[in-house]
Amino acid sequence: MAGDEPPLAKFKKRHIISMRDFTKEEIDFILEVAERLEPYARGERRSNALAGKLLANLFFEPSTRTRMSFETAMKRLGGDVLNMSGVEASSIAKGESLADTVRVISKYCDVIVLRHPKEGASRLAAEFSEVPVINAGDGAGQHPTQTLLDLYTMKKELGRLEGLKVALVGDLKYGRTVHSLAYALSLYGAEIYLVSPELLKMPPEIKEDLRGAKIHETSDVKEVISDVDVLYVTRIQRERFPDPTEYLKVAGSYRITPDMLEENERLIVMHPLPRVDEVDPEIDRTKYAKYFEQAFYGVPVRMALLVTLLEAEV
Ligand code: NCD
Repeated sequence: MAGDEPPLAKFKKRHIISMRDFTKEEIDFILEVAERLEPYARGERRSNALAGKLLANLFFEPSTRTRMSFETAMKRLGGDVLNMSGVEASSIAKGESLADTVRVISKYCDVIVLRHPKEGASRLAAEFSEVPVINAGDGAGQHPTQTLLDLYTMKKELGRLEGLKVALVGDLKYGRTVHSLAYALSLYGAEIYLVSPELLKMPPEIKEDLRGAKIHETSDVKEVISDVDVLYVTRIQRERFPDPTEYLKVAGSYRITPDMLEENERLIVMHPLPRVDEVDPEIDRTKYAKYFEQAFYGVPVRMALLVTLLEAEV
């Protein structure tokens, strides 16, 4: 019976485009596999489970962590990676369409990881790909693998996911990490505090989709600090502003400093990184800071996703 299928079977050759593609059970399954793979992610145990498998990184926007943690995940499990050598050096510069690029690259590899400035690019790519496409960020749209590692971090650091109180702080308009994360948190009955300058509020169509969550909205982070378990801070997405003067109106409008955190002992501070000036580096040395550990968790979580999609046994 289809309903009795293990979550693994349901993942067969599936594209990972949006958090809306996941059920809560599927998320829990990936996080459990990730936990088991942590020693491999740390290099303490070795495996060749992905030997002979090739991942193609197609990044049309800058990336450090996402691209390199996919590469680490593949290589630590014996797989290999093709990297497109930048938009300027590839046939994209000659005017090749995304559809044609994906049609061809999908014949070279077993899975494609795509980051693109246009919302919906991964969904389009999936239509032309012979192998699973993983969305590594599509404009201001979604960033599902970041959300999986964000949830993994919360589970590891706080011991649970159910009913957390999470403040999403910063650029809630253009930030794809918070668009994906808010939806996932709503599946776990979270209380979500949307904290942003007026110009960067969470778009209404995303808020409408958060039915399982209790939502509060404010522009003052100080109001929420004593209430929440997680302060999830984000960078203002400067590159997405159609008008640079709009960016200047909000640049530097919020900054988390250590003194602000003193009233809440149990709080953790997360950030998808890169940070600019929104989290004071003085916080790095405090018990609140979890963002560097969070970046590491991208490796076991992406390993879990890859072994599941590629049907490998570790
Ligand atoms: C984020 C992104 O690309 O959306 N980075 C990441 O993947 N960790 C966040 C950002 O760029 O601000």
